[in-house]
Parts: sequence; C-alpha cells; structure tokens
Amino acid sequence: MMERETSFTLGFLILIILNLAATRVVSTVTDYQYTRSDFPVDFVFGSGTSAYQVEGAANEDGRTPSIWDTFAYAGYAHGENGDVACDQYHKYKEDVRLMVETGIDAYRFSISWSRLLPSTNGRGPVNPKGLQYYNNLINQLIINGIQAHVTLHNFDLPQALEDEYEGWVSRDIIGDFTYYADVCFREFGDRVLYWTTVNEPNVFALGGYDKGNAPPNRCSPPFCATNSTRGNSTFEPYLVLHHILLAHSSVVRLYKTNYMDQQGGFVGISVYTLAYTPQTNLEQDKVATQRARDFFIGWIVEPLIHGDYPISMKRNAGARIPTFTSIESKQVKGSYDFIGIIHYTNVNVTDNSGALNIKLRDYTQDMAANIIYREDMFSNDEYSVTPWGLQEELDIFKLLYGNPPIFILENGQRTASNSSLEDVSRVKYLHGYIGAVLHALRNGSNVKGYFAWSFMDVFELLDGYRSSYGLYYVDHNDPELKRYPKLSAKWYKRFLMGIELDNDPSITA
Ligand SMILES: *[C@@H]1O[C@H](CO)[C@@H](O)[C@H](O)[C@H]1NC(C)=O
Ligand SMILES: *[C@@H]1O[C@H](CO)[C@@H](O)[C@H](O)[C@H]1NC(C)=O
Ligand SMILES: *[C@@H]1O[C@H](CO)[C@@H](O)[C@H](O)[C@H]1NC(C)=O
Ligand SMILES: *[C@@H]1O[C@H](CO)[C@@H](O)[C@H](O)[C@H]1NC(C)=O
Ligand SMILES: *[C@@H]1O[C@H](CO)[C@@H](O)[C@H](O)[C@H]1NC(C)=O
Repeated sequence: MMERETSFTLGFLILIILNLAATRVVSTVTDYQYTRSDFPVDFVFGSGTSAYQVEGAANEDGRTPSIWDTFAYAGYAHGENGDVACDQYHKYKEDVRLMVETGIDAYRFSISWSRLLPSTNGRGPVNPKGLQYYNNLINQLIINGIQAHVTLHNFDLPQALEDEYEGWVSRDIIGDFTYYADVCFREFGDRVLYWTTVNEPNVFALGGYDKGNAPPNRCSPPFCATNSTRGNSTFEPYLVLHHILLAHSSVVRLYKTNYMDQQGGFVGISVYTLAYTPQTNLEQDKVATQRARDFFIGWIVEPLIHGDYPISMKRNAGARIPTFTSIESKQVKGSYDFIGIIHYTNVNVTDNSGALNIKLRDYTQDMAANIIYREDMFSNDEYSVTPWGLQEELDIFKLLYGNPPIFILENGQRTASNSSLEDVSRVKYLHGYIGAVLHALRNGSNVKGYFAWSFMDVFELLDGYRSSYGLYYVDHNDPELKRYPKLSAKWYKRFLMGIELDNDPSITA
C-alpha cells in the first residue's frame, strides 16, 4: 500500500459524501445473526488497555512520571490516579490467563516510555527492570499464542521532556521519539509484529492543547475548559499534531530501513473517529459535515494518504496550521501499514460558518461547524447502540481514503463502574458493532481486526475509576484487585469459540 495513489479532487469528495448521506442504509445489524466463521480466518479479535491505565507500580522499579501522572495529580480525573490502577505490572500472568480463558487472538497494550527510558532526558540508558517487565509480558502472551499489538505513546510522554522543551510542542520530540521507538523495535520487535506509534493524536492535540482537559493540559483563554495558564489554543493543537505526524513518519522510516526485513512487522497510527451526520438536509449542513470530518479525521489521514492537510483546514486555519516541506510531505505520505480506528459513537453536525468572522480563533472556530453530541457523550451514561455509524465510517475510509488496511483498535460500551456483572448493554453494543464490522467487510472494507475496549476496568482518562468499559470487572475496593468476568466476557468467549449468538444475552447464560 506504500505506493497507493489517489487523486480525488475536493469536489469529488464532497459529491461522494453527499451521495453517501443520501443513500445511507440504516441497516438492522443489531438483529443480525452471525458467527465468528463469517469472518476471514486471519481476522484478529482482541481486546486492549494502555500502560498508565492498567500497570500501576507508577513509582516502582525506576519508572519516572509521565504527563498523565502529572495530570492525574493535578486533580483532573476526580482526584484519582494510576499509581495502582489494575496492578497489571504484578498481575500480568493472571491477566494473560484470563485472556487465554476468553479466547482472544491478540492483546493491545502500550509501553510506558518513562518506565523503559526513565532518565531525566527521556533518552539515556534502558531501565533493566522496565525492559524485564515488557519482555515478561510479551513472552507470556507469545507462549500462550496471543499476538502483541503495541502502542508506543498513549497520552504518557515522559514529564522530563515536557519540562525540558515542552514535549510535542517542540520539534526536538521527533528525534527523541524515534530514539525511543528504536529501543522498542530492537528489544521487542523479534516478538511484536504490530506497532501503533501514537494513540489518537487528534484527541491528544485537542484535549491536551486546545481545551486543556487532557495531558499535558495546555490551552489559552478564552478557549480553555480548565484553569491552565500555559499554552496557546490558537496554534498549538496544529503544531503538536504536525510534530506527531513527522515523528510517526520518522519511526516508520526507521522500521522500514532497519527492522522490516528481519522482523516483518507492521507500523500504523490510530485515529479517534466519530460518525458524522448532517443535522438537516440543508446544503450548508452537509458541507459542514464533510468539513468536520476533514478537521477531525482528515487532519491525520489525508497527510498519510495524500501528503497534505485537507484543503478546508488549510483555508480556515491559514498560517496557524504548519506547512509540510516537499520532503516532509513525501515522507509522511504512505507512511503506514495500517490505520487504527477508535470509535464509540455518532454525532450530528450543523454549519457555523459565522465563526470564521471571529478574529482570535482556535480549532473549533476554524472548523466552522457545530458538533451536536448526544447527551451520553460527556457523562457516565451508556452509549446508545448505533453501529451503522462505524459501518459508514469504514465505507468512507474505503471511498475517500483508498481503503487502507484497518484495525478497529478501540470500540466498547461505557457503564457505571460499579454496575453489576450482568452488563447486558455491553453485550448488545459489542454484538451490534461487531456485526457492523462484518457488514463493512462484506461491502469491501479492508478491515483486519477488532479490539474491544477494554479488557478490564481501567483508569479512564477523564472519568478515573467512575466509569468502566471492561469485559472484566476489577474490584478496586479489594486490596487484591480481584477480576471478575462480566456477562460480556462470557459472551465474547462464546462468540470467539464460534457459537452462533444473537444479541439476546440469555443465550450466554
Ligand atoms: C478554576 O479556578 C476557580 C478558582 O480557583 C475554581 O473555582 C474553578 O472551579 C476552576 N475551574 C476549573 C474548570 O477547574
Ligand atoms: C496565541 O498565539 C496567537 C498567534 O497565533 C497570538 O495572537 C495570541 O496572542 C497568543 N495568545 C496567547 C495567550 O499567548
Ligand atoms: C441527528 O440527526 C438525525 C437526522 O439526520 C436525527 O434523526 C437525530 O435525532 C439527530 N440526533 C441528535 C442527537 O440531534
Ligand atoms: C454502587 O454500588 C453500591 C453497592 O453495591 C450501590 O449501593 C450503589 O447504588 C451503586 N451506585 C451506582 C451509581 O450504581
Ligand atoms: C457499501 O458501500 C457503499 C460505498 O462503497 C455504500 O454506498 C453502500 O451503502 C454500502 N452498502 C451497504 C449495504 O452498507
């Protein structure tokens, strides 16, 4: 796919989108009967977590803080933190046993940069204890026949680099991130074949640098959702995402040059996606819907596919969105073996072109669209089950972005964290969305795998331990942090065994 060429014009893109909107099949995937054998034999089913969210042992064996530790300690996650989390650092053997029990093909986890390279400049020598931990985890997975899908950066840049040069705001990050990736490929690449460089850079850039409500909580008034006093919302999100793309492509180049022949693995990046629907049939809402998609998804994907940002972004953000030199553009274009999709829910869009008249603008004004979230988006409520949104996103990746190989790296249902083990709504959600993936696959999508978020109840970015997505409940009041399978774990297990299930949870009983 490295030599893929696409030559859509903007007009053509818009035409396709309008066409899609008009012909959407709101299908009945939730009622759809299917079994695992309806998927290709090499289709990967897994589940995921990330380092700071499960490992715990935050101050053990030489690990130093990341920007997420700092964020949690500043109180942004209801005063909770990942110091202990699920203690996977000590319980990885038990957890891999649960993965075997569940029957997953693959485990998606992330490496903590500041556990592996804890020295104050984020480079320096490898921490033998950190190295040992990841070797142990990876070996435990491999001997049990479970593939390791590894993310290198999941909101957890070493705090030392934030302090030294403001982390992703600085171009210095490119060399340091490449150095860190090199250590990971060298040490683990004989057993790890799937690498995601940066987890959902769009959410990281907006939460961390526009609204200030995600690590490293930078923003500037009047755009802040927090009291942060560092940063500049008008241009930092664009700059940070630019550096992420350059660092990503640098890491892909490193892999192709030094590791690909021997290790034969795959390197990608992940994108948080919302399924966008025009609120009305008005022309300007349809155009705004495509603009919103450009700003959120095209921001990452178009540089990878075409070597440049979407036209609508360059027009509206002007000089505040960086320009790729022609060399950089060539380096970024095609720098992926797969694209990871993170998807939970759908939104509606209306036009807000008036925002372009505001002089001091951030991303939201530049997008010139109102995103109408459902009430369930920013609460602890369950998501509504609207799997056609994922199906449509996969169709759009096929049509607009040249049908790249895709892994669904996160998808799952949120419930209150002390909810009962009878998580019927999670079963319905997983059933619906896995069905949507099957529909998209049958309709020509190049989707290769699906990872339910999350394997167990983890420390969530904004909710701390108040909400949960896990297949396994973790009793955080129990000093042993005992894990219990929810109905969804049993449902997933039976699905993975090849048993035909519909969304009637009694079938799993
Ligand atoms: C900002 O600070 C004020 C005063 O300290 C406080 O009342 C308010 O809750 C803070 N706002 C946020 C979003 O943290
Ligand atoms: C942020 O940067 C813009 C230039 O893009 C500048 O006009 C503005 O004053 C800066 N804001 C702050 C708070 O520094
Ligand atoms: C979104 O728009 C659709 C029509 O396109 C409408 O049926 C639905 O109720 C809207 N949802 C919200 C949350 O406004
Ligand atoms: C949480 O669990 C406790 C004890 O089981 C129960 O009393 C409480 O109502 C639950 N709260 C929520 C929000 O589910
Ligand atoms: C299949 O994908 C096409 C776009 O390639 C789309 O127009 C169509 O609605 C999809 N069909 C179904 C049944 O989802």
